[in-house]
Amino acid sequence: MIVLGIETSCDETSAAVVEETGNAGRPWHIRSNVVASQVAIHREWGGVVPELSARQHIRDICGVVERALEEAGAPALGAVAVTQGPGLVGSLLVGLQFAKSFAWTRGVPIVPVHHLAGHIESLVLHGGEMPLPAVVLVVSGGHTSLYRIAARGVYELLGRTRDDAAGEAYDKVAKLLHLGYPGGPAIDRLAREGDDRAVTFPKMRLTHADRNAPELPGTRDFSFSGLKTAVLRHVTARRQALGLAATEPLPEGETVGICASFQRVVVETLLDRLFDAARSYQASSIGIAGGVSANSRLRADAMQRGQARGLPVFVPDLALSTDNAAMIAAAGLRRLRGGGADPYVEVNAEASLRL
Ligand code: KG4
Ligand code: ZN
Repeated sequence: MIVLGIETSCDETSAAVVEETGNAGRPWHIRSNVVASQVAIHREWGGVVPELSARQHIRDICGVVERALEEAGAPALGAVAVTQGPGLVGSLLVGLQFAKSFAWTRGVPIVPVHHLAGHIESLVLHGGEMPLPAVVLVVSGGHTSLYRIAARGVYELLGRTRDDAAGEAYDKVAKLLHLGYPGGPAIDRLAREGDDRAVTFPKMRLTHADRNAPELPGTRDFSFSGLKTAVLRHVTARRQALGLAATEPLPEGETVGICASFQRVVVETLLDRLFDAARSYQASSIGIAGGVSANSRLRADAMQRGQARGLPVFVPDLALSTDNAAMIAAAGLRRLRGGGADPYVEVNAEASLRL
């Protein structure tokens, strides 16, 4: 089976062609994966502007799909997989409506895919099937969620952020340090030059249950808004001490220390929870997916902790860590194996779709 994947949930328009290999350990092969990034458009505004995003998807979608099909050698498709949610609803609708029409003209079914199931599948695209049970952390601009996978294609939510996502914290801290958008790569780069103990920022401590999600124990949840506020307070105090205006950046020497210290707290928080869950659930492997999994320290520290415990660590390669349609096509193939094709007319975009 060969599947066309389409992803338009946020600020990348992407189309990809992925096929089944017949190899149980490495089930998917990427024939093409085309990504048109809107980062340059949103950078001017310091973050993603939903209306601009939807309009740009409309401009880009036809060309991106055409190229993905061409690079894949114009294959006979068995289905079209598309991100149904979560994401920006106007942006999701562009991909979904395109996918519906395209699937209809080809006479093939449409497979709605959860964006985070896509991110999780990026691990398999890169490293092959994960030994189960697995515990996977999805860390992106919109999500910080921990899942247990006991059976392929079935995801049990163990915890998630109560406020900001990890990537969102990166983007907000970068904004207040005048490092531009998106903030993750900029902080990652500067953090390498700084002392990660230069500033003491608080690590989150969540012990109480979340009344908004009584079905979760709460002790595996994340929170990053306190850390973000601590960085804001520190930066404001330092600006005042140095007599700088709010529009002026701190000296480079201080900025790198703040980046390194912030990053240490984020990475330790994420990995403490991840490895703790892996131990409790006696996981045979762990994975980290989503845009923040591109972070160099997160990858290096995860590998180190994994090696120390004899636990295989799965991360996607860099091209597959941020949003792309190859992961959506692969997740579509996974769903199809479970008989998950939907009648097209009834599928709608869902901004807060649950996995
Ligand atoms: O998965 P993704 O492309 O889009 C969403 O689904 O949100 O993730 C984007 C997020 C942004 O917040 C960006 O700052 C973050 O991933 N990111 C990083 C790095 N590269 C991207 N965060 C930390 N370190 C990085 N190297
Ligand atoms: Zn994503």
